[in-house]
This record gives sequence, structure tokens and C-alpha cells, in this order.
Amino acid sequence: MLPLYTLLGTLVLFSPQHASCFAAANHDTLTVGQELSVGDKLVSRNGKFAVGFLTFQSGPSTSSKSSNTTASTRWYLGIWYNKIPVFTTVWVANRDNPITHHAQLSLTQLKISGDGNLVILDGATKSRIIWSTAIINSTETGRLNTSAVLLNSGNLVVITENSSNPVTLWQSFDYPTDVVLPGAKIGWNKVTGLTRQYISRKSMIDPGTGSFCTELQINGALVHRSWNTSNVFWSWGTVRSSAPKLVPLLQSLLDINPETRGLIRPDYINNSEEEYYNYTLLNESIYIFYVHDISGQTKLNVWSQAKQSWQTLYTHPISPCTAYATCGPFTVCSGNSNPFCGCMESFSQKSPGDWELGDHTGGCVRDTPLDCTDTKNKTSSTDIFHPIAHVTLPNNPEIIKDATTQSKCIEACLSYCPCTAYSYNNSICSIWNGDLVDVKKNDGTENNSEDVLYLRLAAIDLEKLRKNTKRKPVARVIVVTSIITFGSLMLIMLLLLMWRNKSKWYRVGLRDSQCGGGIITFRYSDLNHATRSFSEKLGTGGFGSVFKGVLSDQTTIAVKRLDGARQGEKQFRAEVSSIGLIQHINLVRLIGFCCEGDNRLLVYEHMLNGSLDAHLFGSKPSVLDWNARYQIAMGVARGLSYLHHSCRECIIHCDIKPENILLDASFIPKIADFGMAAFVGRDFSRVLTTLRGTAGYLAPEWLSGVAITPKVDVYSFGMVLLEIISGKRKTHEQVYIGSNHHVAYFPVQAILKLQAGDVNSLVDPQLHGDFDLAEVERVCKVACWCIQDDESDRPTMGELVQVLEGLQELDVPPMPRLLAAITHGIL
Ligand SMILES: *[C@@H]1O[C@H](CO)[C@@H](O)[C@H](O)[C@H]1NC(C)=O
Ligand SMILES: *[C@@H]1O[C@H](CO)[C@@H](O)[C@H](O)[C@H]1NC(C)=O
Ligand SMILES: *[C@@H]1O[C@H](CO)[C@@H](O)[C@H](O)[C@H]1NC(C)=O
Ligand SMILES: *[C@@H]1O[C@H](CO)[C@@H](O)[C@H](O)[C@H]1NC(C)=O
Ligand SMILES: *[C@@H]1O[C@H](CO)[C@@H](O)[C@H](O)[C@H]1NC(C)=O
Ligand SMILES: *[C@@H]1O[C@H](CO)[C@@H](O)[C@H](O)[C@H]1NC(C)=O
Ligand SMILES: *[C@@H]1O[C@H](CO)[C@@H](O)[C@H](O)[C@H]1NC(C)=O
Ligand SMILES: *[C@@H]1O[C@H](CO)[C@@H](O)[C@H](O)[C@H]1NC(C)=O
Ligand SMILES: *[C@@H]1O[C@H](CO)[C@@H](O)[C@H](O)[C@H]1NC(C)=O
Ligand SMILES: *[C@@H]1O[C@H](CO)[C@@H](O)[C@H](O)[C@H]1NC(C)=O
Ligand SMILES: *[C@@H]1O[C@H](CO)[C@@H](O)[C@H](O)[C@H]1NC(C)=O
Repeated sequence: MLPLYTLLGTLVLFSPQHASCFAAANHDTLTVGQELSVGDKLVSRNGKFAVGFLTFQSGPSTSSKSSNTTASTRWYLGIWYNKIPVFTTVWVANRDNPITHHAQLSLTQLKISGDGNLVILDGATKSRIIWSTAIINSTETGRLNTSAVLLNSGNLVVITENSSNPVTLWQSFDYPTDVVLPGAKIGWNKVTGLTRQYISRKSMIDPGTGSFCTELQINGALVHRSWNTSNVFWSWGTVRSSAPKLVPLLQSLLDINPETRGLIRPDYINNSEEEYYNYTLLNESIYIFYVHDISGQTKLNVWSQAKQSWQTLYTHPISPCTAYATCGPFTVCSGNSNPFCGCMESFSQKSPGDWELGDHTGGCVRDTPLDCTDTKNKTSSTDIFHPIAHVTLPNNPEIIKDATTQSKCIEACLSYCPCTAYSYNNSICSIWNGDLVDVKKNDGTENNSEDVLYLRLAAIDLEKLRKNTKRKPVARVIVVTSIITFGSLMLIMLLLLMWRNKSKWYRVGLRDSQCGGGIITFRYSDLNHATRSFSEKLGTGGFGSVFKGVLSDQTTIAVKRLDGARQGEKQFRAEVSSIGLIQHINLVRLIGFCCEGDNRLLVYEHMLNGSLDAHLFGSKPSVLDWNARYQIAMGVARGLSYLHHSCRECIIHCDIKPENILLDASFIPKIADFGMAAFVGRDFSRVLTTLRGTAGYLAPEWLSGVAITPKVDVYSFGMVLLEIISGKRKTHEQVYIGSNHHVAYFPVQAILKLQAGDVNSLVDPQLHGDFDLAEVERVCKVACWCIQDDESDRPTMGELVQVLEGLQELDVPPMPRLLAAITHGIL
């Protein structure tokens, strides 16, 4: 996937039609009397950066228009990576004031003006200044002889021409666009008041001032905010004292991970003159930069020589929906989807071209105008409301005090033409007028809002909607996707954790076993003590044993000690990088880990009710009732859906079975054991080849050798559902012929019974008929769709959640070919 910031622009190799006064194109310095024209460039001494005039070609979607330098092409003065084949700009001078005067483009020049400022002169008039460093006021200082130099760091500076004592008068690092290069400061100057703001760009082809900004505020808070409103959507701690602690924490996070260890060193400085953060590149042969991108996320990107592309090592915040109103009006932002912006129903993208280029600010517009007429003091409207469930409500509602019932609330909205939506909850009626912004879908982690927004639509649109909803879920192939290395994931997740714990994160000292919220590094001796020398064994898994322990604050923990140096290390990494920092109610929580010498230990919250297999097939005296079973099925589905769809890099668990589903005190299921988990990107760049998983739950494609997709988890989940229904471990049994010559292989039976409309007989006899038949049928259908041979026939976990929630229907599934073969072969 192409990161948004990577502008697929091209440096148009514009051959100057006039004799350039700037003869030596490979110099790093522009002095008085020299001119830089379109087609020339200054190159830093190390060759890494170049500065010159550039343009951004139409984005990837309209690439056919290549090299059409029409009058509408916009030109900029900018700095780009000189040696990297993917054109990547790191700074633009005239971001909001491009040069469009195409006829005289060849006459446009960058030069040192008479007063010593660096200026861009318009080709047409020569005297018109398009852009200027505007730092030197010759009436104050007298004429200065200055020169412009592109430094090795990518910093373009204007210095006085005094070789014995050059003074920097201006530098591009002080007037940044959206990229923070190593050595640049995020901060402010206490003497001059200069604050460096990193503002995202408008779109992939427009470097103009966009919507989001990163800055260090005067109160010491490092914030991400909306640029033209002061809406801060993320702050790295508002407490002054937290600032100095950020750097050691960042440093230790970078060090934990072999992929990021030794790449950069973050610093924080606070003295009488300045307060800022910066980072230093530790290996000069690496290309790395930090950017505030179009969607409002910040990213640390490193150039991969092998892949010839930029790789994102860390994204923050992890959900693109955190940024305020990132999708524009009348949209729903869904961090679990790709793309994450979607129009509300019966709305269409205002400007599809801009959307494709990453600029969502236009949002969406109605397909059909509302019907509302305001005559004197009577309003009439035929509009209708459509619910959008599980979303966060827009800001600043108008509360209608008199409306104490839902119908009064509807009336309040209908009787006011600008009203576009209402919400009614707890006898509180809220209405919104005009554009609806910042509506985010509940993604099960970041925001668990259960609120329902009722969207006002023209009656005709709602009818269309009704017609469209009666579809069965179409199973689509999930494209398996490009991995970022383990390291990047781990870092992303570690940072996600810090971010999730917001005000608390900085308390997570690296050796602090008291803190509840974050991931903790434990000393081996502490864990030895907590588990009383590993005396109480809870179980043994493929890679090690699990022991019960108690922390000093009385938290009960389960400690997994991994055996075998190499294997253990692999599993350790898989676990930490998968559940280390993602949190979901249906995923087991990793409290911390210990990584001392050869010891690799993982510390989890202890689950009072053990694993599902013990309840289904074990000797537990009490039988799990149907309701609990249904909730477990739903919870596991939600957990898997989260793994598959919510993280940019899809996580495939690869070993879903009852043993790996733990139950807490209230029987809420938690998926555990991520030792086999695999991370895959979205372009098949990594195909799993080694078999992972447990016999009986393995999807057929493991054996056929095709690429592995998240559908392998769907298959295993289907097998688990069949066991939840039957209460017996049928899936492990060999196929055999029962006394009545019936095929006893349970999945075959399940489909046959389902097709015959007789699911009653499949249900665990221990329930003594106490179950909801409709639910059993639903679970059975889901299970049978899950175990289809062809992964493209299996629904996605996201669709299955919908079905289990009763929001979608499924048809009766066909008999999978493989199972059919078994049936025919035997009968
Ligand atoms: C360039 O674009 C203009 C309009 O933008 C169009 O009229 C012209 O045909 C294009 N030329 C080429 C070579 O594509
Ligand atoms: C330069 O300085 C003088 C005197 O301080 C002031 O009057 C003038 O406005 C300044 N010019 C610019 C362009 O800032
Ligand atoms: C600036 O450069 C010109 C030409 O080299 C020289 O004559 C002049 O003295 C210099 N002025 C200063 C202030 O250095
Ligand atoms: C250059 O710097 C030296 C040392 O500070 C100073 O003595 C000298 O006057 C400067 N020359 C000019 C032309 O500014
Ligand atoms: C970042 O700031 C620190 C502290 O002032 C400084 O030592 C370091 O050189 C700076 N890094 C770069 C690349 O300038
Ligand atoms: C913010 O920007 C949007 C779009 O650019 C604009 O419509 C709006 O008026 C701006 N708001 C303020 C407060 O400047
Ligand atoms: C930075 O230093 C100033 C004094 O120079 C102090 O008042 C302020 O609290 C410091 N900020 C932080 C975040 O420590
Ligand atoms: C710097 O990075 C290059 C390329 O990744 C690597 O080959 C080299 O060993 C690194 N140098 C050091 C000192 O780490
Ligand atoms: C508007 O409402 C007021 C108060 O209810 C009433 O006195 C007036 O007659 C109404 N006017 C019309 C045109 O209905
Ligand atoms: C979650 O939703 C609440 C209520 O709408 C909102 O105040 C909060 O900012 C949201 N949190 C995030 C991280 O979006
Ligand atoms: C109603 O509001 C309360 C808190 O204000 C919230 O916890 C609850 O989820 C809301 N219920 C619905 C159905 O929106």
C-alpha cells in the first residue's frame, strides 16, 4: 500500500530553453548574482537532498495524463530526496502560492535579492516576488551579502557571506511543511516566539496547507490538532513534568525492537532559549523521516532498499479516525475498514477525484434534497429518519428540553428545516443542524459508543435503502497483505499502548509492576517471586508452561514460560507483537513480559474460568447453558473480526480452537495464545508456507499450498462453533460408520441436518432441550458456511458478526466438496 505522503509526483525534467546563468548545477550554494531556474537544482554535499522547482503530477488514479504540463500545472520550490527513485518531497516553500504562470515558467527564478533575502521571482514580471524568506529588512541591517546553502540534513539555510563567521539568518527547518527531518525541531523559541508547526498537506498532489497540525504548545504539551480550529485531538500529556519522560520511554521502545534499535535517538531540550523535541539519525546511510500526513496521523517512515519503497515503522494515532472530522461532513469514519472514510447512506462523495487523492474535506452530499418548507410559522416536511447505530455522535448538539419522548424529538427536528439529525437517549433529545462531522463507527476498542444517530433523509431515499438491504452476505476474498516487519508492528503497538493510556502512560515505568494500564517489563526475580518459584502450574502448551502468580497489588496473573531458546524467541515475538498492545474485550490482555538473558516470559491477566474446552468436553460439573455458549460464539467472532479487519496489517491467529479461548469470571471469551499468529499485509507479499495450527481445525488450503488468508481462522472458528453446539469434540474424530450406517463425522451431519431442517438433534444433550432453536440454527448455518472448502465461499469475520447479531441473514449452505466426497465415498 502506498503511504499517502508519497507523492507520485515527478520532477519534470524541464530543459531550460534559455542559457542558465546557473552553470554548476551540482553545487550546494546559491550566491549573490546566481539564479536557479526551472530544471536547475542545488544538491547537498552528501548528495541526499536537492532543492529546485518541482511539480506534482496528477495522482495515481489519473496517471494517463502523464507529462501534460498544461497551464493548470502548479509549480513549487521544494526539497526532495535526490537519490531515492520514489519522488518524495520533504519541504515546499510556496505551498499555498504555486507558480501557475506557465508561459513564462522558464523565466521564473530563485535568487538572492538585493536586500539579501532568498526570493522566487515571477517569470512574467520579474519584479513580482512570489515567495521570500522575508527575514532581512535592509533598512534595519543595511544591505547584506548572503548566500543560500542546502545542508546535508536537508535544511536550506540563508547565511551571511562571512567565511570566518557565517551567521544563519533563515532556515527551512524553522518554516517546515509536513515533514520533520532528523535534526529539525518540533518546538518553539522562547526569545523570538517562533513556533514550528508541521501542517499536513491538502492531498497527494497538493502540498497546500491541509487540515492537521503537530506542534509543541507553549504549555509544554506536544499536540496533534485541527489546523484551522484549535480542536486538539491528541496530546502527549498536558502535564509539564511528563515531557522529559517521553524521551527515555521512546528510547526504550525503540531499543526493545531489533528493527528500530540504533536507527534514531530522540532528544528533548528545555533551556532558557528554546524548548523542543528532535531526533538524530544514528546511521547516515539510512533515509528516515517523520510526517504528519493528510489523514491526521503521524508516521515514521524508513526507506527500504530491498523493497524500493517507504516502509512505515510507526503510525500514531493508530486509528485514522482519531483526527477530528478527518472524513469531512456527512461521513462515517470506520478505523476497521479500508478505506476508512465512507459516505452516510444516501449520500455521495462531493468530489470523488479529491477523495482518491486523500483529500476528504469535501465530505459527502445528499443524493436527494430534503423536503422541508417553512411558511410563516408552519413547517411541513415529509422527511424520514434512518438510524446509524454504534457511532459517536457529532459535537455540539442542540438539546431540546421539551422533547421528552422520541416522537417529540423527531417532531422537533422535522419542524426545523436546517436540522439534519437527532439522537434520543435517556429522555434526552439532541438535534444537529447543518453539516454532521466527526461521526465515528464503534470499532470495539477506541470508542465503544453504543449511540444511535438518526439521520434525516428524503423519504424517497429511504425506500431505495430498504430495497438494497435484503442481500445475503457475499463472501469475498480477503486479499492477504504486505507485511511490515515484526519490528514495525511491535513499535506501532507499543506506541498504541502509550497512546491508549493517555494521561497514564508516562507512569508506566519500565520496571514498574504496580501500574494497571500498560505493558510492563518484569524482572525475572519478580516473576519468580510472584509465582512462588513457578510452583502452581495451570497448563502446558506447545511452547511452554503456564503458571499462576500473584503480583504485589494482589492481581492474579498467568505467567507463560517459553521453552527452547529459538522456538521460544519466535513465539515470544509473535505474542508481544500481536496482543502486546492491541486491546479488545475478546482478546486476552498481555500485562507484560520478561526478557532477561535466555528467559522469555509472558504475563497475562488470569482467567478465572479457564479455557472453553474444559467446559465443553471436560469434567466440569456445571454445564454451559445455551445463552453463555451463544455469547461465547459472538465474542470470539468479534475478537477475530477485530484482528482481521481493524489493524492495518491483518493479524491471522492461525490456531483457533477451544483450548485457546479463555473465559473470564463472567464467561466473556478471550482469544489467547498468539504464538502462531501471522501478520500479513494486503498485497500477498508474504505467503505463509509453513503449516501452523492444530489438526481438526485446519482449513484445506493449508494442505493445498495456496496463499493463506484470514479465512483459515474462519474455518477453525466454524469447527469450534460445531463443538459449541454439540458439546463434543467431534471434529477430532476419525470418520467412521455408525451402527446404522450413518456417517458420523459431525460436520457432515450438521450440514445434512441443516438442509433437512432438523438441527434439534445436533444440540448437546446435556442442555436437555433448553435452548433457542433460532439461535442454534443461526450458529449452525454460520458454522457450515465457515467450513466451506473454497475460502472465497466463506464469509468474513466482519460479516459473521453481523449474522450472529441478527443483522444479516444467511442461506442454507451447500455441502463442501471435500465433505461431500467423504459422504459419497462411505455411503
Ligand atoms: C493536456 O490537457 C489538456 C486539458 O487539461 C487537454 O486539452 C490536452 O489534450 C492534454 N494533452 C495531452 C497530450 O494529453
Ligand atoms: C523595515 O524596518 C523599518 C524600520 O524598523 C520598518 O519601518 C519597515 O516597515 C520594515 N520593512 C519591512 C518590509 O518589514
Ligand atoms: C558584498 O559583496 C560585494 C561584491 O562582492 C562587495 O563589493 C561588498 O563589499 C560586499 N558587502 C558586504 C557588506 O560584505
Ligand atoms: C566576519 O566575522 C568576523 C568575526 O566575527 C567579523 O570580525 C567581521 O567583521 C565579519 N565580516 C563581515 C563582512 O561581516
Ligand atoms: C537534537 O538535539 C540534541 C540536544 O540539543 C542535540 O544534541 C542533537 O545534536 C540534535 N540532533 C540533531 C540531528 O541536530
Ligand atoms: C476551516 O477550513 C474549512 C475548509 O478549508 C473552511 O470551510 C472553514 O471555514 C475553516 N474554518 C475556520 C474557522 O477557519
Ligand atoms: C522548561 O523550562 C522552564 C524554565 O526554563 C520551566 O518553567 C518549564 O517548566 C520547563 N518545561 C518543562 C516541560 O519542564
Ligand atoms: C547502516 O545502515 C546500513 C544499511 O542499512 C548498514 O549496511 C550498515 O551496517 C549500518 N551501519 C551501522 C554502523 O550500523
Ligand atoms: C403564527 O403563530 C402565532 C402564535 O402562535 C399566531 O398568533 C399567528 O396567527 C400565526 N400566524 C400564522 C400565519 O399562522
Ligand atoms: C469516544 O466517544 C466519546 C463520546 O462521543 C468522545 O467524547 C471521545 O472523544 C471519543 N474518543 C475517541 C478516542 O474518539
Ligand atoms: C445512552 O447514554 C448512555 C450514557 O449517556 C450510554 O452509556 C448508553 O450507551 C446510551 N445508550 C444508547 C442505546 O445509546
